[in-house]
Amino acid sequence: MALRYVCVLVLAAVLLLGVVSTPKGLKDKEPQRAPRIPPHFSQEESFRMKETLKGAIQIPTVSFSPGESNVTALAEFGEYIYKAFPTVFKTGFIQHEVVGEYSHLFTVQGSDPSLQPYMLLSHIDVVPAPEQGWEVPPFSGLEHDGFIYGRGTLDNKNSAMAILQALELLLIRNYIPRRSFYISLGHDEEVSGTNGAQKISALLQARGVQLAFIVDECGFILDGFIPSITKPFAFVSVSEKGSLNLILQVNMTPGHSSAPPKETSIGILAAAVSRLERATMPSMFGSEPLRMTLQQLANEFSFPTNIIMNNLWLFGPLVRRSMESEPITNALVRTTMAVTMFQAGIKVNVIPAVAQAVVNFRIHPAQTVREVLELAKNIVADDRVQFHVLNTFDPMPPSPYDDQALGYQLIRQTLQSLFPEVSIVPGICIGQTDSRHYSNLTSGIYRFNPLYAQPQDFRSIHGINEKISVKVYRTQVKFIFEFIQNADADQRPVSHLHEL
Ligand SMILES: *[C@@H]1O[C@H](CO)[C@@H](O)[C@H](O)[C@H]1NC(C)=O
Ligand SMILES: *[C@@H]1O[C@H](CO)[C@@H](O)[C@H](O)[C@H]1NC(C)=O
Ligand SMILES: [Zn+2]
Repeated sequence: MALRYVCVLVLAAVLLLGVVSTPKGLKDKEPQRAPRIPPHFSQEESFRMKETLKGAIQIPTVSFSPGESNVTALAEFGEYIYKAFPTVFKTGFIQHEVVGEYSHLFTVQGSDPSLQPYMLLSHIDVVPAPEQGWEVPPFSGLEHDGFIYGRGTLDNKNSAMAILQALELLLIRNYIPRRSFYISLGHDEEVSGTNGAQKISALLQARGVQLAFIVDECGFILDGFIPSITKPFAFVSVSEKGSLNLILQVNMTPGHSSAPPKETSIGILAAAVSRLERATMPSMFGSEPLRMTLQQLANEFSFPTNIIMNNLWLFGPLVRRSMESEPITNALVRTTMAVTMFQAGIKVNVIPAVAQAVVNFRIHPAQTVREVLELAKNIVADDRVQFHVLNTFDPMPPSPYDDQALGYQLIRQTLQSLFPEVSIVPGICIGQTDSRHYSNLTSGIYRFNPLYAQPQDFRSIHGINEKISVKVYRTQVKFIFEFIQNADADQRPVSHLHEL
């Protein structure tokens, strides 16, 4: 996942300042047919679990740029998981397929075909990690002070490994799933997902698969961002921003600088870019899911902020202005625009024929690519500026997060058993994840890793000294171990009235 959205989560946490506990939805389950397997791991299992993660970190599965990745490492990773999780690979009701050469798709056949399958999603590639600034080499997987260091320990080999690890441990205990599920591990998420996730999605669509929900990355249990806050909260991204990359181009007759025309290609383009920067895109404050996020957190703010947050009908504009004043929270309430490239000129005394700029829009879920393109043209309002669309991705509409939303409620239920102090709120992912390639398979996409994350953790993702505590990793395995069993329970989550 991109650093940018990680930062957003941080600021969102900062802004929201707190947490509320509103248990609802799933609670006591009906008795299950198979006895529940307790999430207890032996010392030997716990030891092997962390050693296995270290081994995965040591394989430098780097995505450098689209189409350029360390394919030796990606192939090695495939062999590694085969050796690390032998039971997963030899179990009769699990099918393993390699897709797009290096991505992995596991189909775990449940015993009850009437239950709609779901998917656990992650990626095995990482961004590059120059050694400078690291306390230990980024691909060493060294353990230090209870932490395993290395690129991918948070983004997102921890998930890829924890999913397979939890399944391995369940299988060793003779677990037989009732509900089918897929495990999908993409190999090029950091550079678009077109060779991995997109191909897996196409394959499943061709097979006519429909999923109850997907769990992917982009959300954490946010902890310790504000000193006055004691309770952490789980920020589950139910939506994801889209993107639009636009080339703006101005063509003029080239000429000598000694007798210049009134306007040059550079001047016209600069003015256009400046107009775009000064115009802000409309605010989407008040749209879902952010409205619900604020509502659910309101009571946990300390005085007097709690009064303000509980009375958005009155203080909405105040809260909105406060969110808009910080770049990261601003990104949660509107489409953002950034000029990322500007190119013109070849010689000191030549007026160039062509000037070009690239503008990157991150589109709020309440808008579409088309709307934003129209807005941009209206803001520039100059026919001499040509618009060329480089590539686009529409935002992902909010997935359901009500009492009937199976995936969301299973996350809530599993959280409650492992982290009773943590409440759950819906959020927006401002980066992009592989899950966007799966929109045809389900309307329930939840981006969340069951990890406590503190401010320094966010800075390490795509940065230096990325690390995960051994204990936190074990808890992540436990979460998935429990989640898979919860998904097998007899009853769908039902609405529990009056629990709020
Ligand atoms: C690619 O990965 C292999 C190990 O699989 C490693 O030996 C090699 O140094 C890596 N190459 C680059 C350019 O990182
Ligand atoms: C979803 O399905 C439509 C119609 O079959 C197809 O055109 C589109 O490319 C699919 N989208 C994705 C993200 O797979
Ligand atoms: Zn990621």
